[in-house]
Amino acid sequence: MHVIEPGRYTYYIDDIMFERDPRLTPENRAQLANGRGGNGIVMPSRGDDGMLLVRRDIVLGEKIPGYPGQSGVLSTPAALYENARTLSSARSLEDAVHALRAAFAAGHETPMQVVTDPGLIPLIADPEIRPLLRDALRDHARESVATMVSSGEPGDPFVFRVALVDEGTGDPIAGALVELVQADAGGRYAIRTAAWNPRLFAYLRTAADGSFEVRTVHPGGYEDDEGAYVPSHIHFSIMADGYRPYDSETPLDDDPLLAGALREEAVQQGHPITRVEIRDGVSTGTVTIPLQPVPAAN
Ligand SMILES: [Fe+2]
Repeated sequence: MHVIEPGRYTYYIDDIMFERDPRLTPENRAQLANGRGGNGIVMPSRGDDGMLLVRRDIVLGEKIPGYPGQSGVLSTPAALYENARTLSSARSLEDAVHALRAAFAAGHETPMQVVTDPGLIPLIADPEIRPLLRDALRDHARESVATMVSSGEPGDPFVFRVALVDEGTGDPIAGALVELVQADAGGRYAIRTAAWNPRLFAYLRTAADGSFEVRTVHPGGYEDDEGAYVPSHIHFSIMADGYRPYDSETPLDDDPLLAGALREEAVQQGHPITRVEIRDGVSTGTVTIPLQPVPAAN
């Protein structure tokens, strides 16, 4: 059984032993003395109807260091973020994501910082936790400039700059929610999982001038399920008030294999093509992505 405290922690009752159990060892006692949630050693009592009863209270946050209301109030974004790092290093990964959500909700200004923070690597490395982290970042996206890979990520540094505009007027679109997903330098989305669970991602909002920018590594091309080569590209998903949602991908034109029929196919499918050139010594891709306004209701 578990008890969920919305937006914060999950408390488990899954490890309970009985006080009079002759097999209860001192090691069991030591281990359960600080059990999280409702875990621990219980003393059954007999009720009026002769039934044996076990009572177990869960006091929310009682055994969680730095829980709000305990000594040392945990309410600033920085303190909540630090709590997430503590939980991550203690391998309480789901709780760490809850703590990050609390930090973001309290106004933490750089949520994308988590993907470059060595203290939070376990959250991205764990294929079951990674989708929870992505949800939290999507719900609280606010940066228009971010880094989407850790400093140890293999590959060639790549800067990706996008201008988001109205398809008809060319006006910039500010405040749009952007999701980016890409393969790593070797053309892989994830290691160890077959399901779509990409390891390299970013959640952003466009700036007042409609732009956003990420620092990343150049994605590798790969072979699809039929063995056909797919040139280097970045997937994007964009939501903006007043515009149709737009999910697509942008091929990078420095991939020498983006030529001939493959290039024609990309154009036919309507994929905006990113122009790549060296700027200030760094490979930089730029592309303008147009959004279609939702027709005004009559
Ligand atoms: Fe892809």
